Amino acid sequence: MATSAKKTPENGIAVPFALPGGNRIVTLDEFIIRSEKDFDYATGELTGLLRDIGVAAKIINREVNKAGLVNIIGVADGSSDNASGDKQQKLDVYANEKLIECLKNSGECCAIASEENDDIIQVPPVNSKKSHYVVMFDPLDGSSNIDVNISVGTIFAIYRRKSDPTGPATVDDFLQAGSKQVAAGYVLYGTSTILVYTTGRGVNGFTLDPSIGEFCLSHRNMRMPEDGQFYSVNQGYYSKFDLEMRRYIDNCSDENYSLRYIGSMVSDIHRILIQGGIFLYPSTRKYPKGKLRLLYECNPLSMIVEQAGGKSMNTQLKRILDVDPKELHQRSTIAIGSPNMVDELKAFIERYSALPL
Ligand code: AHG
Ligand code: MN
Ligand code: MN
Repeated sequence: MATSAKKTPENGIAVPFALPGGNRIVTLDEFIIRSEKDFDYATGELTGLLRDIGVAAKIINREVNKAGLVNIIGVADGSSDNASGDKQQKLDVYANEKLIECLKNSGECCAIASEENDDIIQVPPVNSKKSHYVVMFDPLDGSSNIDVNISVGTIFAIYRRKSDPTGPATVDDFLQAGSKQVAAGYVLYGTSTILVYTTGRGVNGFTLDPSIGEFCLSHRNMRMPEDGQFYSVNQGYYSKFDLEMRRYIDNCSDENYSLRYIGSMVSDIHRILIQGGIFLYPSTRKYPKGKLRLLYECNPLSMIVEQAGGKSMNTQLKRILDVDPKELHQRSTIAIGSPNMVDELKAFIERYSALPL
């Protein structure tokens, strides 16, 4: 066994526990059970929740991989728009159902909120156990990419409830600033399937080994580059962006940065986490407050990015994790990524913005 130093030399982030040396595989389940011992107040609930999400991710992954073979691509039958006004795809519905099912079966959380549901969903206690957590998710991010075989993801955020655990959960349990997240993560169904999560002590990534059906630790203590060469924005909306954003994008082009935009935020953020860069979704005429959802897209990905050494703010220069949410499906602008690039954008906004900041 390799003994774990409490802090790694390169970044000073605590390594949660001693990991086996050599090539021994560390599965997600083993990792989260061992990490639990790090938390003084651990009751096993959070561990159980992360495991539930891992199980749901494997089921969703199986279906995503079969997408062209079974009748699961395209718009859901009888679908109306979801809470955010987007068309529901069949896989959106499937992923949503599987996550809710896995979380309800264990009863490790007391309520759920999802992009695909207008209101919160109460989870009845299992074996009279009172849960202290609520879970929020975007079951399938980038779902317009499914039909064309491009990577999609799942994003999740976990909070401790604020309401009395003897009663039902309330919407206020979900309306907490992102800085209150106790865990956050995503699953990327890409060339391989990877689950990345944080409990506020660094970021770790687990790649699904399909031959054994297990997520195995592959990206330990992830740190993102401080700078990058990639910018990620829907440049098709260029003429609809405010002046400061257009100036910044012009600068990216002058600096010969490469544009990469997949159209699933999870995929774009994962690339930035590994290779460095910046992801932007500013306000447009269609979405004056931004398009992306604060609670289950921006907050969890901001926690991951900050934990890996990056930064995340809205275009009013407020740290995303400090925004007090008012609504479940609230939208936000976002600029997130390598710290030096986010700082550079901040300077452009300060210089060119016509609005008082
Ligand atoms: P979802 O599929 O969950 O609705 O999310 C799609 C989001 C996000 O993943 C992506 O970055 C963005 O929408 C793309 O929007 P545009 O097509 O407007 O660029
Ligand atoms: Mn999404
Ligand atoms: Mn979605």
